[in-house]
Amino acid sequence: MSTSPNTILDRTPLIAGNWKMNMDHVQGTGLLQQLAVCLTDAEHDYGSVEVALFPPFTTLSVVRSLIQDDGLNLVCGGQDLSQFDGGAYTGDISGQLLARLGCKYALVGHSERRTIHGETDETVNAKAKAAYRHSLTPVLCVGEGLDIRQAGRHVQHTLTQLRSGIEGLNSDQAATLVVAYEPVWAIGTGEVAGPEDAQEMCHAIRAELTRLFDTDVSAQVRLLYGGSVKASNAAAIMHQTDVDGVLVGGASLDATEFANIAGYERQATP
Ligand code: 13P
Repeated sequence: MSTSPNTILDRTPLIAGNWKMNMDHVQGTGLLQQLAVCLTDAEHDYGSVEVALFPPFTTLSVVRSLIQDDGLNLVCGGQDLSQFDGGAYTGDISGQLLARLGCKYALVGHSERRTIHGETDETVNAKAKAAYRHSLTPVLCVGEGLDIRQAGRHVQHTLTQLRSGIEGLNSDQAATLVVAYEPVWAIGTGEVAGPEDAQEMCHAIRAELTRLFDTDVSAQVRLLYGGSVKASNAAAIMHQTDVDGVLVGGASLDATEFANIAGYERQATP
């Protein structure tokens, strides 16, 4: 496998599948079994990327067990977590519960949580801190809507979300952070931001992290792009200097498609 600028900087590419509210525990088992076959295809080398799955909470346990029992080279995470650690919070899932299941990651601030559940930047920040309290790595999702993009305020808007989301984190925490730039207008719409749009924003995010911390920290943070990623566009996005991974929705529900995204290097050099 060729070496990308990202691996030179020792940022292991992260290919993340957000199953959203799809895949019950039986369907999820089937998808994971198919994925295991696709990802262990002897002809292909997926060893240099990290593949993470974000199933619904009710499917997480069976996914985690299969990963463990079959020794699969996959990790998993929660699609959300509570800002609280436990107690009378009906319907919520704490970082502690996710950590107990062996999760590595938790998404925080996904645009669907911000829009549908009214999550504010303050809540998102509290959730990021809750993740760290339980040794989970937050995948902080940021990104602008169409109106903001059309008004040319996308960088300013996204960096404001970034600053609020990471407020109060120390350098050690910030260095392990994952930030996912997901322009809302590109999510589930088939509209994909161009690779240069993804690079523009990821570069701006990294520069802001340098300003807030230092280059040692900013050079370690992995930056993902999300929004209508498919096998056919993954390689061009992944080859951008500041893009270290992708957060995939719809296409992660198809084992072959998702495996081809994880094998983006092969797609680029057939
Ligand atoms: P799609 O890949 O379906 O556009 O979803 C992106 C997303 O929201 C991932 O979190």
